[in-house]
Amino acid sequence: MSSIFDQLRAEHANIAGVLKVLAQQIKLFDQGKHPDFQLMQDIVTYMSEYCDQVHHPKEDVVFDRLSQKDPQSRVVVNRLQSDHKKITSLTKSFADTLEEIVLESVMSREQVSNQAHDFLDTNANHMALEEAEIFPGLLHCFTQDDWQSVSSNITSQIDPLFGDNVEGKYKLLHAAIAKELS
Ligand SMILES: [Fe+2]
Ligand SMILES: [Fe+2]
Repeated sequence: MSSIFDQLRAEHANIAGVLKVLAQQIKLFDQGKHPDFQLMQDIVTYMSEYCDQVHHPKEDVVFDRLSQKDPQSRVVVNRLQSDHKKITSLTKSFADTLEEIVLESVMSREQVSNQAHDFLDTNANHMALEEAEIFPGLLHCFTQDDWQSVSSNITSQIDPLFGDNVEGKYKLLHAAIAKELS
């Protein structure tokens, strides 16, 4: 078993935990209650800093290799790689919206809610598609050489939220996730 594959699966579980906390905050917002906007901003910062900038580029390297080995995977790989770009821009615009809210700009509740749900659903559907259509194929057709080759093209990065040391700015989020998953 490759450690890159283990990392991808562990990252999906971690991201699912992050999205679960976000979903709770969005639910509060939809109910007209007061969500924790700082926590939501921390979530979006993490999604940008780690999911968009580390997890997806890592997958891009792995998926490129898979589509070379298995031409049948190309359609799904293309879709997932274009999702990666789309998700990066969703993260940016959702971060901008949260910033506007914190700065007390007037925003339509409906617009914020739609954007939040789109962010949540797009990320969740994207991961589900990878897990259903790509991860089994990786186990099936990647050899040790394939994993070694992709490993050599991936720079390892420390996860600031789920790594051995939780970065200071993520302490509250880390505690919220631990509580949610306990
Ligand atoms: Fe992905
Ligand atoms: Fe992924």
